[in-house]
Amino acid sequence: MMGSIADHQERCEAWGLDSERIPQHVAIIMDGNGRWAKERGESRVFGHVNGIDSVRSSVEAALELGIKHLTLYAFSTENWNRPKEEVNALMDLLVETLVKEVSELADKGVKLRTIGHTAALPDSCQVQLQKAAERTSHQDQLELILALSYSSRWEMVEAVKSMMNSGVKAHEVTADLISEHLTTQGVPDPELMIRTSGEHRISNFLLWQMAYTEFHFSPVLWPDFGKEEFIGAIRDYQNRERRFGGLLDTNHNVETK
Ligand code: FPP
Repeated sequence: MMGSIADHQERCEAWGLDSERIPQHVAIIMDGNGRWAKERGESRVFGHVNGIDSVRSSVEAALELGIKHLTLYAFSTENWNRPKEEVNALMDLLVETLVKEVSELADKGVKLRTIGHTAALPDSCQVQLQKAAERTSHQDQLELILALSYSSRWEMVEAVKSMMNSGVKAHEVTADLISEHLTTQGVPDPELMIRTSGEHRISNFLLWQMAYTEFHFSPVLWPDFGKEEFIGAIRDYQNRERRFGGLLDTNHNVETK
C-alpha cells in the first residue's frame, strides 16, 4: 500500500517534507471539541463526534508519511470528572468507532494498542478494545496507540509498583529499566507532540517519554485539524534543530532512547 521508497520520497517532497526526517512517533493531545461545538450552538458531544474525522485524517496522514507510532490522548484520568452524560457518550463513541473502523484499520496495516488504566473502562469498551487489538495484532505499518483513562503520573506509580513487585534492587534502577516498566514499553519516545486548540500544557501526558520531544501547538480546534494541519505540524518539526542537550543535531544518543 505504501509503495516504493521513491514514491514515498516524492509524496513527502510534494508536501514540502524531507522523507528522511519523518518522525517515528507522533503524540497528539486532541483538544477543543467542546469549544468547536459551542461555537455552533451544539452540545459538547457533537464536537467529539466530529473529532472522529480528524482522528481518521491523522491516521491516514501518518500512514502516508510512514510514521510508525501515533499516540492519541483520547481520555485522561482527569476526564472521569466530566458530567456522566459526556463520559458515557465518549465511551459509546469509542465502541461505535472501533466496531465501524476495525476492518479498515486492519486493511490499511494499522495495529491498535491502548495505554492507560483500561480496567476502569466500561466492559463493552474493554471487549471491543480487546477484539480490535486481536484483529489487528499482525499489522505493522502503523501502531495506533489510544491513551484511555491514562495519566502519566498514574503510569509512573504503576511502574514503580511493578519494579518493586519484581524485586528490583535500588542499584539496578536505570532510566531504561523505568521505560521498560511503563505502558509504552517498546515504543520509541515521541519526537513530536501536537496539541490543538491553542492550549500550551502537557496535561499529565507521557511526561517521562517526552523528555526530548518537540512541541507543536496549533490554534486549530481538534474537529478542524485535518490532513493539511497534520502535515504542517511535521513541517514545523522538520524546521527545528534537535540537540538533545548537546551541541550537534546528530547527537541522538540519549539514555532513554
Ligand atoms: C478534548 O476536547 C477532547 C476529548 C477529551 C476527547 C477526545 C476524543 C475524541 C476525539 C474521540 C475519541 C475517539 C477515538 C476513537 C480515538 P475538550 O472536550 O476538552 O474540548 P474543550 O477544551 O473545547 O472543552
